[in-house]
Amino acid sequence: MCGIVGYVGLQSPQNFLIDGLEKLEYRGYDSAGVAVVNEGEIKIRKAVGPIVNLRKVIGDEDLGGRVGIGHTRWATHGGVTVTNAHPHFNSDKTIAVVHNGTVENYIELKAKLQAEGVEFISDTDTEVACMLIAEHFKKLGDLKAAMDAATKEMEGTFVLVAVAADQPDKLVAYRRNAPLIAAKGKNFNFVASDFSAILKHTKDVFLIENGDTVVLTKDAIEIFDEDDKPVKRELMHIGWDVDAADKGDYEHFMLKEIHEQPKGIQETLSRSLTEDDRIKLYGIDMTAEQLNSYNKIIIVACGTAYHAGLVGQYFIEKIAGIPVQIDVASEFRYRRQFIDEKTLFIAVSQSGETADTLEALREAKKQGAHILSIVNVVGSSVARESDEVFYTWAGPEISVASTKAYTTQLLCLYMLALYFADLKGTIEPDDYADYVAQLKRIPSQIEEILKKEQDIERLAYDYYDRDQVFFIGRGLDSSVAFEGSLKLKEVSYIPSFAIAAGEMKHGTIALMEPRTIVIALATQDAIFDKTVSNIQEIKARNAHIISIAKEGNTSIVNHSNEVIYIPECRDELTPLLTVVPLQLYAYFVAKDRHCEIDKPRNLAKSVTVE
Ligand code: M6R
Repeated sequence: MCGIVGYVGLQSPQNFLIDGLEKLEYRGYDSAGVAVVNEGEIKIRKAVGPIVNLRKVIGDEDLGGRVGIGHTRWATHGGVTVTNAHPHFNSDKTIAVVHNGTVENYIELKAKLQAEGVEFISDTDTEVACMLIAEHFKKLGDLKAAMDAATKEMEGTFVLVAVAADQPDKLVAYRRNAPLIAAKGKNFNFVASDFSAILKHTKDVFLIENGDTVVLTKDAIEIFDEDDKPVKRELMHIGWDVDAADKGDYEHFMLKEIHEQPKGIQETLSRSLTEDDRIKLYGIDMTAEQLNSYNKIIIVACGTAYHAGLVGQYFIEKIAGIPVQIDVASEFRYRRQFIDEKTLFIAVSQSGETADTLEALREAKKQGAHILSIVNVVGSSVARESDEVFYTWAGPEISVASTKAYTTQLLCLYMLALYFADLKGTIEPDDYADYVAQLKRIPSQIEEILKKEQDIERLAYDYYDRDQVFFIGRGLDSSVAFEGSLKLKEVSYIPSFAIAAGEMKHGTIALMEPRTIVIALATQDAIFDKTVSNIQEIKARNAHIISIAKEGNTSIVNHSNEVIYIPECRDELTPLLTVVPLQLYAYFVAKDRHCEIDKPRNLAKSVTVE
């Protein structure tokens, strides 16, 4: 995925573009570039690496102009080079284009253009899109008409934004299944991949729909639907404050976002509880009859969101008695599924733009399922294509490694399960009240864990140079083990594995040796003895055991080299707490290893390609 920003206004665009790209850098940081239309000429400046490199390339130069486009790239077609970086030019440098997504039939289109004599310099599908727009522009003389004609020939999911040298007062953007907003200001307007790029200048945005073409001038945002009819799209006022997308006093977004978890949970809770502590899900209005009409639930998500889904599966089945199937989104469509109108499909996604999750959702919808999504980004594609949306109020998550999105997703899944159980009458009133009371304690319990930050930092320092780390646990602890392992590998690059503790003896225990670190989650009282047996088997192979257990559990000390305690809570709710020391551990190990914590190599914040 990539980040796009476009500006038309009274001022020189370059600072607006570069500031915007810095906010979008989490979307891709292989290379970046800007193009500005100035006096019949398009000036392009590009650099490999982070936006700061682009700043260096531009130096004190004033590119002038009133219209510009910018791009931060996460490479898909072609390596990370200046030539492959966006914006791309057509042959006579009269059109420039930036692009997010993939043009799937670019090889055929390229061959056709080459047969007509067009020469290419990059390996990208974007250059093909640019050349195609330029060819149509030659015939039609109008940028919007050229964009419309070119996109009709393209297959795939993408956003394209183009400027023309002889049209110094406008840019044209097109959206197909990739994110795009248009933002409205006084004497200026923007297009961008998401809100963070424009928040500093305006909070009024239009959500651009699939198939829309946008013509942006300084005074107007004209939107045309796929039938080329002028349309009005929903104007949203964004409530986020500008600081939400800033690091503040923290060294990294990841640490800031770990610390924002109590606030995100509090915010999500307070929006979903009535004064008398009943769960009322804003955005979801289901009757008992409707819920009873579903004979199963399918949860689909990727990465961290999938790990949250694992906990959701366990808890919904346990207290609402509804069978739940869970799948990683990238696999979901490639297996026979048994879906009809009796299926409730739950998509979980922070960004709401993950291509795999979106495609799975569309497939389930086609087959008749009712779609409910748990999403963080308001107005994102997953949110818009769902029948009902339950928002996580985590605020913008900038670090590629997801932290606060995970805990708010967990909270939403817990509340959804309780809401279902209440509707179905499968939970006793006292039990319901107890769960809600315990959920309300979670923010302060996370604060308690955060106070142990220095202990965890020390622990991380003691073992940051290890070659492999294992995460084990049984039941819900094993779901959190997967998340702990993902966090560690993505930010520290240490090979790390998560496994259900009872499975170790069936093969993986062969890898245990004295330098191996095993993080053992042992918070499930009901199966504690079994977990201890598994820890013992590992300890007998001299691996180093760091256990996570509930406060008051003194026996765990006998089986561990180190113990991190979490506050006491019901077994079912421990994932909300156990993940926090694991996030901190991953963060500090990565810091000790001098890794690029907020932008790990090869990763992008939201993966908008399949
Ligand atoms: O935006 P989404 O929640 O749909 O993203 C899903 C995954 O790509 C995401 O959770 C990814 O695994 C994170 N890098 C994990 O930290």
